[in-house]
Amino acid sequence: MKRASKTSFCLPVVFAGQLLLAQSVSSPPGPPPPAISITKELIEFFTPKDNPPSDAKVKLGDMLFDDKRLSADNTLACNVCHDPRAGFTARTETGHGIRDQVGKRNTPTILNAMFNRSQFWDGRAASLEEQAKMPILNPIEMGMKDGDEVVAKIAAIPEYVAAFQQVFGRPVNFDDMARAIAAFERARISGDAPIDRFLRGDENALTAAQRHGWSLFNGKGRCNGCHAFNASYPFFTDQRFHNVGIAAHKTDFADLATLAGRSNPTPAEIDRMAIETNASELGRFLVSKNRSDIGAFKTPGLRDVVLTSPYMHDGSLATLWDVIDHYNKGGEINPFLDGGIERLGLSESEIDDLVDVMNAFTSDKYASQAAMEMTRQKTFQRTPRSTRDTDAALGRKMGHGDAVPDPDKKDPAFIGGRLVAQ
Ligand code: HEC
Ligand code: HEC
Repeated sequence: MKRASKTSFCLPVVFAGQLLLAQSVSSPPGPPPPAISITKELIEFFTPKDNPPSDAKVKLGDMLFDDKRLSADNTLACNVCHDPRAGFTARTETGHGIRDQVGKRNTPTILNAMFNRSQFWDGRAASLEEQAKMPILNPIEMGMKDGDEVVAKIAAIPEYVAAFQQVFGRPVNFDDMARAIAAFERARISGDAPIDRFLRGDENALTAAQRHGWSLFNGKGRCNGCHAFNASYPFFTDQRFHNVGIAAHKTDFADLATLAGRSNPTPAEIDRMAIETNASELGRFLVSKNRSDIGAFKTPGLRDVVLTSPYMHDGSLATLWDVIDHYNKGGEINPFLDGGIERLGLSESEIDDLVDVMNAFTSDKYASQAAMEMTRQKTFQRTPRSTRDTDAALGRKMGHGDAVPDPDKKDPAFIGGRLVAQ
């Protein structure tokens, strides 16, 4: 047995809600009021009725999540890419699978993933149960041939045979494996951040700079248009898909969309396109085939965002300062750029305050990790930063010197003289 390290700081799902409710009833004088934003009701709402959690199921899921035998060459487990010491991310630009194969997308955290309305940057999996099988079978991630091969391998380990019998009352099978892993992920809830206490009325939970950052987040910075936060869904995301101009850094959308738009791929083929090919940059279009979804990706939640560097679906932005620089200059112009993206005219100190308030989205249990990462990012972010374009941000120049050809004015779907996707 080689697990147990994570259980000490993660509440099992069945207890988390009760604890939060109990805290909200009577708060003792002195210390700041506890966070109540991730309520028991919210957790129940996002827990599927056909996969109720239990301590034994979460423990089995934890074992599977950490087990390298789920990969073809026994070198890779979920927790290698989703490393609990790095906020359940990989700290690499994109995923590194078996035999040094490098994928196209950045590894998101699994913290609070249970609250996602769909999984993956393009939402191609509807549930955590569906998602869990995909990296195991993706050839350049964990590389197993099919579900039968996985089951044969795990069913040969007596410890698992006993655990599956205890939890599900039947022999090892692929669906139950996914159920157990999903139950483990649903126990990785992360709330209790300074921003939660601030929104409950504790002014001192944020510094003056962070309070200023919060007003920029909801005002001049226009962040809350997509990274929406409200009492019933407190995760800083609208769970929709937007093209904010990241894919436009390096992509010929016209060629890609024409290719991808013509085929009729199976879910497994879409998974391979997303992880292994340049068509990855088409984002939500791979799933929806809507032209307006070209280059659109899911708005990520921003809880614990300090820990999840590097940023964006391709890990192309190294620090939170780079992220704000990107938004400040109005993104990267392309025919499918979201209407909510325009230049912001933020000053250098406003950029600092916006970064600072995102630090206040860190839950208390990760505060020391986040402090180290903020120090690293501060040292790392250079002046002048390569992502910064102050003239564009302040409207002192027209056009943004972007990488894609100018769209046809009459039909913006015409790029470089060709119609993108049918
Ligand atoms: C090779 C590294 C790697 C391994 C191994 C891996 N993942 Fe991931 N994971 C990723 C990447 C990269 C993405 C994003 C892919 C995409 O969006 O197309 C991802 C996405 C996810 C998501 C979606 C989160 C969200 O916010 O949409 C979940 C949940 C997840 N992985 C769980 C798992 C589980 C469970 C396992 C083990 C069965 C696993 N991962 C194995 C790299 C990895
Ligand atoms: C039009 C919607 C929209 C607006 C407005 C917006 N974002 Fe985003 N944000 C997104 C989407 C979509 C992504 C993922 C884009 C991608 O990877 O291609 C993202 C990614 C991010 C990330 C990276 C998170 C990670 O885990 O990689 C951060 C940080 C972020 N946004 C912060 C902000 C801030 C701060 C603002 C305001 C200055 C803002 N966003 C405005 C939609 C938006």
